[in-house]
Amino acid sequence: MISTKFPLQEWWIVGFSALLVGTIVTFVALIHGVDEEGMRMAIRATGRTSTIFFVSAFIASSLHKVWQISLSKWMLKNRRYLGLSMAVSHTYHAVALFGLWFVTNGAAPKIEPLGTLGYVLLIVLTVTSFKIPASWLGKRRWKILHKTAMHYLWLGLLFEYSLKLSKSNFIALAFVILLVFAIVLRFAAGRIQKKLV
Ligand code: HEM
Repeated sequence: MISTKFPLQEWWIVGFSALLVGTIVTFVALIHGVDEEGMRMAIRATGRTSTIFFVSAFIASSLHKVWQISLSKWMLKNRRYLGLSMAVSHTYHAVALFGLWFVTNGAAPKIEPLGTLGYVLLIVLTVTSFKIPASWLGKRRWKILHKTAMHYLWLGLLFEYSLKLSKSNFIALAFVILLVFAIVLRFAAGRIQKKLV
């Protein structure tokens, strides 16, 4: 059992994330109003919160391999709950997408098959993060599924932000750097692991 100094643990992280992202979405709606621009802003905000939760879960184990500090211990211990926080944050993304559809009378957003697959994978990851569905899959298949789905989501996020680079979007650039850092860190941790074996 890994002990950490951080007071926020397990389901409290998910509850806190739900409250935090819900507050951000409410704040955006209050400032911008419930119109197309407001909904688009809420979609962008929830896309960004989801990316932060995703990267935290994606790098937790690698970060702890290369740099053992209290934060990496906490992230590793709570990796599942950080992943569930990504799912919660992306539920808000879906609500905002529905809101956009509503305020534009169905004109937006366009159906994105790759984004829809992303949602399917998120649901599968969430369900199989519970003990009973995970035991139905077995350890090997669970590992393959989670690794593949997480890399698909990483690629999807990288694609989403890379498309925005041409518009000199510095926030998109920061997220591209974060995502590239995440994959490099995983690669470096994998090399360290191989050397130790
Ligand atoms: C049916 C599925 C989806 C649809 C229709 C959709 C739609 C959209 C739209 C329209 C925007 C741009 C809003 C704007 O700038 O006006 C957006 C942004 C974004 N979406 Fe989604 N999305 C979907 C699924 C996903 C998934 C699965 C992910 C992540 C794995 C994701 C992550 C993001 C991110 C990161 C942004 C950009 C945030 C930013 O600009 O900083 N989306 N989405």
